[in-house]
Amino acid sequence: MDKRDKDQRRAFVIGDPISHSRSPLIHRHWLEAASLDGSYDPVAVTASDLPAFVSALKDGSSGFCGGNVTLPHKEAILELADEADVTAREIGAANTVWLENGRLMATNTDSHGFSANLDETAPGWDKGKSAIVLGAGGACRAIVHALLARGFSSVAIANRTEARARVLADRFGPRVSPHGIESLQELVSGADLFVNTTSLGMGGTEAPLLDFTVMAEGALVTDIVYVPLETPLLAMAKRQGVATADGLGMLLHQAVPGFEKWFGLRPQVTPELRQLLIADMETHT
Ligand code: ATR
Repeated sequence: MDKRDKDQRRAFVIGDPISHSRSPLIHRHWLEAASLDGSYDPVAVTASDLPAFVSALKDGSSGFCGGNVTLPHKEAILELADEADVTAREIGAANTVWLENGRLMATNTDSHGFSANLDETAPGWDKGKSAIVLGAGGACRAIVHALLARGFSSVAIANRTEARARVLADRFGPRVSPHGIESLQELVSGADLFVNTTSLGMGGTEAPLLDFTVMAEGALVTDIVYVPLETPLLAMAKRQGVATADGLGMLLHQAVPGFEKWFGLRPQVTPELRQLLIADMETHT
C-alpha cells in the first residue's frame, strides 16, 4: 500500500442489490468538486455476509471509514452498530455509519433529507398542523419522524394494508393515526401537507383520483419517489393548481451528513448536482 492509499478516506454503499444506487454519483461529484483524495464505492453485501462485513469494518481490516447502508440492511445494521443515535432508534433503521474511536456509529439521514429538501424548495412547508402520508413501508417511518420533529400535530397514515399503518401509529404515538386507503379523499380535505411514499400510479398501477383543491390554503403536495421526477400524484396536484415539490432533493440532502462524517467537509446541494442526477435518470431509468 503506498502512502496515498493509506491516507485516502474510503467510503461505501452496501445493499443487495446495489448496482442501481445513485449514491456513488453524488459522493464522487462532491469528492471531485472539493479535490479530495477519497473514494466512494458500491459493495454488494448479502444479509448473511453483513456480520462479517461489519466485523472487518470495525477492526479496520476493510480499510473503510464508513458508508451508506441500503436495502435490505437498514434495520439489521442498527443491531450491529456499537451506537445508534436517537433519530435512528426512533425510526428503527439506519442508512449511514461511520467509525469513531474504533466504535461503529449509526444514524438515519432520510428524515433530515426530507425536511432539508422542503426547506429549500418549499419554505414554510412546516407551518401547517396536519399532514397525510400515503403508504406505510420502510421509507414512511423517516417521513413521519420528520413531520413530528417539525411540529405537525396530526399525521394521518393511509395505507392499502391498514394494519401496517396501525403498527406505525403505535410506534409514533398519539399524534399519528392509521387509516385505510379508502379514507384518503376525506383525509385530504383541509390538510396542509400530502406526502406520497408509494409507487402508486407507476409501472401500470392506478393512482387514486384525488381532489387536492380541498386542502387548506397554501397546501403542498410532495412525493419521495423521484423516478419519474413528476410522479402521477404530483402531476394530478399540478393540474389542480396545488403547489408541489418533487423528491429528488431528498436523495441529495440525505447524502450531506454522511459525506461530512467520512470526508470532513459539509458539501453543497447545487443545481449542477441536481442536473447530473436528472441526466443519469434519463439514461438509466
Ligand atoms: P418500502 O419499504 O421501500 O417503502 P414497501 O414496503 O414495499 O416499500 O412499501 C411500499 C408502500 O406502497 C406500501 O405502503 C404499500 O402498501 P401495502 O403496505 O398495503 O403493501 C404501498 N403500495 C404498493 N403498491 C400498492 C398498490 N398497488 N396499491 C396500494 N398501495 C400500494
